[in-house]
Amino acid sequence: MRRLCAGLLATAIATFALGGAALAETIKVGVIATFSGPNAIWGKQFKEAIQVYVAQHGNEVNGNTIEFIYKDVGGPNPDASKAAAQELLIREGVKYLAGFDFTPNALAVAPLINQAKVPAIIFNAATSAINKQSKYFVRTSFTLWQVAVPAAQWAAKNGAKKVVTAVSDYNPGIDAETAFGSAFEQQGGTIVEKIRMPLQTTDFAPFMQRIKNSGADTVFAFLPAGPATFAFTKAYSENGLKEAGIGFIGTGETDETTIDALGEQAIGLTTAYHYSDVHTSDLNRAFAAKLGELFPKSRANMASMGAYDGAHLIYKMIELAGTDGDKAIEAAKGLSWESPRGPVSIDPTSRHVVQNVYIRRVERDGGRLVNREFDLVKSVPDLGFDR
Ligand code: PHB
Repeated sequence: MRRLCAGLLATAIATFALGGAALAETIKVGVIATFSGPNAIWGKQFKEAIQVYVAQHGNEVNGNTIEFIYKDVGGPNPDASKAAAQELLIREGVKYLAGFDFTPNALAVAPLINQAKVPAIIFNAATSAINKQSKYFVRTSFTLWQVAVPAAQWAAKNGAKKVVTAVSDYNPGIDAETAFGSAFEQQGGTIVEKIRMPLQTTDFAPFMQRIKNSGADTVFAFLPAGPATFAFTKAYSENGLKEAGIGFIGTGETDETTIDALGEQAIGLTTAYHYSDVHTSDLNRAFAAKLGELFPKSRANMASMGAYDGAHLIYKMIELAGTDGDKAIEAAKGLSWESPRGPVSIDPTSRHVVQNVYIRRVERDGGRLVNREFDLVKSVPDLGFDR
């Protein structure tokens, strides 16, 4: 009798365990981003790229249905980001968080994901220190250290001697200023002035005057992509800086979503960045084709790529570890894949994407302007993680 009972119990346990593993569930992913206000392009680009990924790969992983839930935080707004994360974690029971366009929005959720042990996949926010705030952060975008060092090295090699840096005065801007400055000085160059501009400014004329007066031969700029980069780059052209002999080196200032509005004046602007929508690869062409089919008016940019690769990473983490946050983070470390931007991998220490950084120049391509890649630095990690 005892043997029979033990046998039945073992069968019951096995059945339960098997059933548990096979039980299909809906796994919710909360995406926190800006869907309203002047920076609403971020949420739009994230969402469309996720939809492209789902159209290509389906909405099931290991029999589980993946459901993306989107929350608008209206711009750089840490309080709204925290509230959105709380609602997603507690009310919606999401097992993964994702999105995060602006650095303060990512930083604000660190204590929450530490407590909930829920992975947060950063699609953009690009300050190196973010990933130090929680072991649950993994980033598929870029960091300013990752792109500003190659920018400085390229500028030094191509004749720049005296640079003025002009950055938005918040975390990623300070990273950009420090990364560019230290790499440029290491190459023997001089930083003649460091200008920090308020995050919300769109009137750049006074800063253009300071750049002109600085005695620099080149300006290095970082501003968050969107209205700020557009207005800054336009001001650079309209205030005659190019004619005054001041060259331009940037990162995301010639973003695909605003480049055509900049017009002919943008031609020749040089940037160091991790993605151009005219990157020549079959995967990128397939991505662009699907995006064009689903959203005919849209154009891919780095936000699309952060979200597309972020969706891929989330699918892989779910495939390898289900909804166990700690196991999912371990599973993410060291993963590598071919992205439309080129080969990428997740550095196990920084949990940040290792990738090629391309040097690009704005060119006309038929009816539109493009960031044409003409040089690259291969497999660059986050050079700012250990600072
Ligand atoms: C950031 O806040 O980290 C950020 C925002 C926009 C960018 C780059 C970085 O284009």
